Amino acid sequence: MSGSDTAAEHTPVLLPQVLAALNVRASGVYLDATYGRGGHAGAIVEKLVADGRLLCLDRDPVAVAEARARFAADSRVSVFLSPFSALAACADHIASGLKFDGILFDLGVSSPQLDDPSRGFSFMQDGPLDMRMSKGVGPTAADVVNGASEAELIRIFREFGEERFAPRIARAIVADRASKPFERTLELAEMISRVARTRERHKHPATRVFQALRIHVNGELDELEAALNAAFERLVPQGRLAVISFHSLEDRIVKQFMRRHASTDPVYAGLPFVPAHAAPKLRLVGKAIQADSEETARNPRARSARLRVAERLFEGIAA
Ligand SMILES: C[S@@+](CC[C@H](N)C(=O)[O-])C[C@H]1O[C@@H](n2cnc3c(N)ncnc32)[C@H](O)[C@@H]1O
Repeated sequence: MSGSDTAAEHTPVLLPQVLAALNVRASGVYLDATYGRGGHAGAIVEKLVADGRLLCLDRDPVAVAEARARFAADSRVSVFLSPFSALAACADHIASGLKFDGILFDLGVSSPQLDDPSRGFSFMQDGPLDMRMSKGVGPTAADVVNGASEAELIRIFREFGEERFAPRIARAIVADRASKPFERTLELAEMISRVARTRERHKHPATRVFQALRIHVNGELDELEAALNAAFERLVPQGRLAVISFHSLEDRIVKQFMRRHASTDPVYAGLPFVPAHAAPKLRLVGKAIQADSEETARNPRARSARLRVAERLFEGIAA
């Protein structure tokens, strides 16, 4: 997290690169699917004229309240409290079948979410073991830690945290929770420090388990798969999809999604005639973009950011 971020701020990562990737046109229609504190959204709006349009989504009511207050007097901007997997319904709310010239996903949690101990995302600060981005909705991390079977905990820690000590940590959780359920972030983080080590320098031993619980509690990977498909359907020809991910599980999904749609359906590979439905639908725009040393020095959170960009092709046109 950026040392310069305060409780209410979030420094947008790769901002000039995102603006270039989206190729923002003054009268275009854009979607920021992860408003956060609107660092990217604000910069997009600045480029729009009166008939340009920006839809902003976030599943966190605190982010949405900030967006609504900020853009209350701006008729170009509409704000939705919604998971981004439901972006088509939000777009339809403005105009049935509305499509976009550019769609941005800046995945993960924001600095204000991470820095607020009451949200329970951080293993560095004590708070309730919550981790829900959709504040107050659905099971908490404590529900998972105290309720899931040992086998399920191992699966979560392995699949979403790539945690090599998953069995050891899950066993210790099940043993400890029998006498007292886990309620606080630091209870869990300190227990993990006792039973597991990290071989990664500068990483707290609880890093991977906290990441895994967060991904599981928020259904992050399923959300991303569904949202990429929905976004793809809602791009105009030459519309741009820009996705910033912060860990390899997300980046793999984004990379595979873009590559799949940028290729001919393998059933037709090598055949002289490729029907329109089997032709590539996306063009990859450059390689994955990472922050330079100046940005990572200013904002350490940018260190793990990876921006991937693709452009929607005209139907039936080869890449
Ligand atoms: C990294 S922050 C975005 C920061 C933003 N680009 C800025 O410059 O301020 C990610 C935001 O996306 C939201 N978010 C994450 N997953 C979401 C999902 N599935 N649906 C909607 N919002 C989501 C989080 O609540 C968080 O506010």
